[in-house]
Amino acid sequence: MSPIKACIFDLDGVIVDTSIYHYLSWRRLANELGFDITREDNEQLKGISRMECLRIILSIGGVSTSADQLYELAEKKNLWYLEHVQTMTPNEVLPGVVEFMDYVKQAGIRIAIASASKNAGKILEKVGLMDRYEVLVDGNVVSKAKPNPEIFLRSARELGVAPVNCIVFEDAISGIQAAHNAGMRSVGVGDEKILKNAHLVVPTLGAMSMDELLALQNFA
Ligand code: BG6
Ligand code: MG
Repeated sequence: MSPIKACIFDLDGVIVDTSIYHYLSWRRLANELGFDITREDNEQLKGISRMECLRIILSIGGVSTSADQLYELAEKKNLWYLEHVQTMTPNEVLPGVVEFMDYVKQAGIRIAIASASKNAGKILEKVGLMDRYEVLVDGNVVSKAKPNPEIFLRSARELGVAPVNCIVFEDAISGIQAAHNAGMRSVGVGDEKILKNAHLVVPTLGAMSMDELLALQNFA
């Protein structure tokens, strides 16, 4: 049995649902370049870095660009995305998240946020969650994308907790894989069919009980 000493939460798709804003902004860019993307295309963009998303989108549209243009396009999309982020309020925190974080904290379990997004700090501020976690590891400080375990290992190190004592909450398949690559247990937040490799899957954090969390201590 490995006691749970830390919970590491992904941000986009676990704490807030920003994927619609990413989608609208990427779609605007695609339209400007003369093609369209679908919501199914958007599924592939979850959990991966901005530049990686751009490469996928350009390949959908069959568009090739210079390295300089790549950065310009990514920057343009990000400015549009930030217009949406500016409108965010605490109402956009997904149901049950604040209550679950409170339970966790009261149980003496440490909290980190691990997000591929370079905008994570801004989003957490907009939705009023800045004082709910001890450590934030985001796209500004990690270079290796999930499923590489870097982001979760760094979160654990900054909290001073061994990986075996950490539970990761993730909505992306690559994130669940990253947690396992880090030697951590995982909770998939979302669709059971998609996140089947996770140790436990819940539809939302609000549906997760403290008993279920503590039961994860018994997983090898
Ligand atoms: C992840 C999202 O959290 O952050 C991805 O799931 C996104 O869809 C990535 O591409 C990078 O986000 P940002 O805000 O740095 O462009
Ligand atoms: Mg996510």
